[in-house]
Amino acid sequence: MINAINKIEAKGLLQAGEVAIVGAGPGDPELLTIKALRFIEQADIAVYDRLVSEEIMALLPDGCEQFYVGKKQAKHCVPQENINEVLAQQAKLGKRVLRLKGGDPFVFGRGSEEAEYLLQQGVSCHIAPGITAASACTAYAGIPLTHRGLAQGCTFITGHLENDGQLNLPWQSLANDKQTVVFYMGLGTLDIIARELVAHGRAGTTPAAIIRNGTRSDQQAYRATLETLPALVAKHNITPPALIVIGDVVDKIDQRYVASLGYLKALD
Ligand SMILES: C[S@@+](CC[C@H](N)C(=O)[O-])C[C@H]1O[C@@H](n2cnc3c(N)ncnc32)[C@H](O)[C@@H]1O
Repeated sequence: MINAINKIEAKGLLQAGEVAIVGAGPGDPELLTIKALRFIEQADIAVYDRLVSEEIMALLPDGCEQFYVGKKQAKHCVPQENINEVLAQQAKLGKRVLRLKGGDPFVFGRGSEEAEYLLQQGVSCHIAPGITAASACTAYAGIPLTHRGLAQGCTFITGHLENDGQLNLPWQSLANDKQTVVFYMGLGTLDIIARELVAHGRAGTTPAAIIRNGTRSDQQAYRATLETLPALVAKHNITPPALIVIGDVVDKIDQRYVASLGYLKALD
């Protein structure tokens, strides 16, 4: 296997003075791409977020500096401008800088803001996409994002409140019942989400799921309906990171299989 991987030509090598903005996926280290792993192995310094799993951090080479910019330890986020500056400064010192982010850096990851800043500063950067949470967490819970006859499409959307404290979303289009809607960062606004979707015409009985710590060994996945999900989340005291999935696909696999971490066990 390793030989086969080595035969894949590395197109992007991280040079001194460059930054690689790399998606680490949602947690399971086996979901890393080969490209991501190559950049990880080449790094002099890793600037990383809260959602990068410990197993992935353990892949950093000996001597690689680690610079944490996530929320948990610092209690609040390091401002984006400071992260941008750290990346540019470290690259200008001639280091090979790894910017490691959970999921995909360009999906609710602010990777594009960082790339924009770096280019303005004259620093070249590589982008290595990662598997985004919506894709992997649903798969590991046995939920397909689309399924013929049930969902013609899916929408990834943020449930994070805007600066004005409002959640201004295109509710009418989200209420279309032939689509799957996946909310990132929607735990705090789940009550609003459920209420608005029903108010705009989505049935209260629409299947809905919550997946916490998806793809990790402590993944929790619960199924409910749009109407019952808020109470279920409160009952189980679910905390971030969690994804909310709404649509008929939620019921698709579990009727015949037991799904756990990507393994679908057929019931006898
Ligand atoms: C700032 S966004 C980052 C998304 C990331 N760039 C991606 O592509 O998955 C953080 C949100 O992603 C979702 N998320 C990320 N990893 C997750 C996981 N392992 N399980 C459940 N939700 C996750 C949660 O909604 C969390 O609040």
